[in-house]
Amino acid sequence: MRKKIVAGNWKMNKNLQEGIALATELNEALAADKPNCDVVICTPFIHLAKVSDVIDHSVIGLGAENCADKDKGAFTGEVSAEMVKSTGAEYVILGHSERREYYKETPEILKEKVLLALANGLKVIFCIGESLDEREANKQNEVVKAELEGSVFNLSAEDFGKIIIAYEPIWAIGTGKTASSEQAEEIHAYIRSVIADKYGKEVADNTSILYGGSCKASNAPELFAKPDIDGGLIGGASLKCADFKGIIDAWK
Ligand code: 13P
Repeated sequence: MRKKIVAGNWKMNKNLQEGIALATELNEALAADKPNCDVVICTPFIHLAKVSDVIDHSVIGLGAENCADKDKGAFTGEVSAEMVKSTGAEYVILGHSERREYYKETPEILKEKVLLALANGLKVIFCIGESLDEREANKQNEVVKAELEGSVFNLSAEDFGKIIIAYEPIWAIGTGKTASSEQAEEIHAYIRSVIADKYGKEVADNTSILYGGSCKASNAPELFAKPDIDGGLIGGASLKCADFKGIIDAWK
């Protein structure tokens, strides 16, 4: 059966010392009180190697927030999937709406990134989700379907099994405006049906689909109680140990 996951996306927050302190605090909190789900923290590149040393990887998985769309070579400032993997990280977030919007990452670029991440043994947390305009025009289903088709439906069923989907409505990210649990469940069920049409029911049933967008300890229990919501991808509330642990505890 599919995994329950709570993943943090630190985004561009925390200097190195603050990041190590947060990871250490979370590691201690989860050693004292074992989670009922997989926990992942996705940090800026520069934190990965040090954070890898302070966490118990059997309790906390580590991920990057991005990787390059090229294998290696003269790409000044880029960080490859192989480099990410060499830090001890096991995951990478790809397709986040902030990368699509601010850094103009296209479906083709994301397709390359996904292939390189998988080739280097990383699990991919692949983000999809509609804008407010698209939601108001009732286009959310076609948007998420196109995002899947554009970057991950080229994969074999075996490789697709290494993908975690994160549904993040752009209008709910960092806005304090969460999708209602009914709205989220409706589109999660739709996403699962699209995966089932492409890869079959077994693959779809085994795919974890996370919700992201102003998820916090107060709304996580209601969201996670829905049958097609398998956890969360957490931004702001992953930056404080107690807030993040509160969301992890929603699985208890
Ligand atoms: P917030 O939890 O801050 O809304 O961010 C969600 C997100 O973008 C996680 O990737």
